[in-house]
Amino acid sequence: MSNSSAASDRLSLLSAHLAVVAPSQLHRQQTNAAAAPTPVTTSLAGKVCIITGAGSVHGIGRASAWAFAQNGAVAIYITDFRVDHLESLAQEITAAYPGVKVIARRVDATSDEDVKGVIDDAIEKFGRLDVFFANAVWIDILLVVCVQTAGVATGAHIKDTDGQQFMESMRINGLSTFLAIKHAGAAMQITGKGGKEKTGGSIVATASVAGVRSGAGSLDYSASKAAVINMAQCGSTQYAKANIRVNAICPGLIETDMTKITFDYAKARGTAHKIGQLNPLARYGVASEVASVALFLASDASSYVNGQAWAVDGGLSASLPVAPGRFF
Ligand SMILES: NC(=O)c1ccc[n+]([C@@H]2O[C@H](COP(=O)([O-])OP(=O)(O)OC[C@H]3O[C@@H](n4cnc5c(N)ncnc54)[C@H](O)[C@@H]3O)[C@@H](O)[C@H]2O)c1
Repeated sequence: MSNSSAASDRLSLLSAHLAVVAPSQLHRQQTNAAAAPTPVTTSLAGKVCIITGAGSVHGIGRASAWAFAQNGAVAIYITDFRVDHLESLAQEITAAYPGVKVIARRVDATSDEDVKGVIDDAIEKFGRLDVFFANAVWIDILLVVCVQTAGVATGAHIKDTDGQQFMESMRINGLSTFLAIKHAGAAMQITGKGGKEKTGGSIVATASVAGVRSGAGSLDYSASKAAVINMAQCGSTQYAKANIRVNAICPGLIETDMTKITFDYAKARGTAHKIGQLNPLARYGVASEVASVALFLASDASSYVNGQAWAVDGGLSASLPVAPGRFF
């Protein structure tokens, strides 16, 4: 199909849609209780979910596993390439929510084989995949050096970053997102099993405010997170008409294992109270505050949210770099 005929097809579809549902009708639909659409909730009832990077003790992945279980997921694969805390997490969640099947599994999020393997397992055991939360991260060890020497968690300077480190950031943070979108999107189109009648699903990837602007990470980390945001945008169009949504979350400064060194350093200096003070809420965030957004994006409550990058940063990325109330 030529570009011009594709464009004219889209235009005629759009005008047909507008002809069927005029804005005034839309308004009537919303205010007429009898015609109100089925309410959507943050419930994950009946949904099969996979989370990568769920293996750290204070991480966003772990907090999300709890949120997904609390909200009725039928099965949750908790995965990471480090497995020291995965089994105990599975046991704790199962004890609290016996109705949820929790499966701990070693998955390297950058391995085509591993990612496809865990998705195939979900299809084999449950017949469906509904949610994939691509949350694993690699962060340059030089961040640690930078924090300790300069006292700011902005990551390694470009002069201290070589091409190999740059590629490693892109490989882990970028490739893991690509594989998630590729394999999860394919699996979410499988129907006729596990009670799934129509294609659909939600892929959520953890990006960062570092992927939106400079100042929140090293150049390689920030660039890899910008790639994650772009893949959420492009991924949403890859699955057009299949009801598969792809969104990114952009956390600000969250207290997790990844940022532990920053928090420990500030505590040792007696400046812990200053962490996060540059955002309008003047505090840092905790993993459960990101998990609740992951839950929203995973659930049907966000059924019309697609291709977006949602900041969860206390307003950091919305504000200019001034201390609240001080202009000079
Ligand atoms: N904590 C923050 O302030 C912050 C800010 C912005 C974005 N993020 C993003 O949030 C996500 C979660 O990070 P977190 O803060 O919970 O950190 P975390 O260190 O607590 O968790 C990250 C997990 O990813 C795992 N991981 C790393 N490479 C992997 C791989 N190849 N395969 C599978 N697992 C792998 C680690 O083992 C770890 O358990 C990351 O994508 C991170 O970039 C965090």
